[in-house]
Amino acid sequence: MSITRRQILKQGKMLGMGFLTWPLMTITPQQTQGPFYPIIFPLDEDNDLTWVKDRKKQALGEKIIIRGQVLTANYKPVKNAKVEIWQACYSGRYNHEYDPNQAAIDPNFQGWGWTNTNSEGYYTFKTIKPGGYPVTNDWKRPPHIHFKITIPRQTELITQLYFAEEQELNQKDIILQRIPRNKQDLVITKLIQGDALNLRVGQFNIILS
Ligand SMILES: [Fe+2]
Repeated sequence: MSITRRQILKQGKMLGMGFLTWPLMTITPQQTQGPFYPIIFPLDEDNDLTWVKDRKKQALGEKIIIRGQVLTANYKPVKNAKVEIWQACYSGRYNHEYDPNQAAIDPNFQGWGWTNTNSEGYYTFKTIKPGGYPVTNDWKRPPHIHFKITIPRQTELITQLYFAEEQELNQKDIILQRIPRNKQDLVITKLIQGDALNLRVGQFNIILS
């Protein structure tokens, strides 16, 4: 089923996303993969990063839902796309041996996970809002989630998703600011209340080139 601009706008409105406007519906910008894509993948690799299999405690931090639709440039849903995310835990630390951050790591946070889009191109993750982390003395990365979207026989898309409520750090982030200003909203989500589980939800539609 193809999705029209009108349907996308309508859907955005229903989700309370009044900011979703036509210029947003362009190709999702690529961003650097960064140094913390897993070398060793966690044994638990589902789309709920808040629980690690066989552990008794849930991850620390605010649990959130990130969901959206993977679409072609013509707004056709992409089914069976592999969507991977990886991110720091609540304290801003990656489960990665090269992360120099001294913040305590949360052993109950999965750190990486993946899912496939369904027949209408939708994906969902349950995760926590990551902490920001220092890169240099005067550069702190804003909370963000890394995304990799893979479709067989096509180039993959690697990008990062930011949070509208972190505007101060977003505006100073060297990586986000590499994206032209009029396209930055494509990779910034607004967390809104509205999940059945009473979690805040961030919508992130991914438009492939
Ligand atoms: Fe990162």
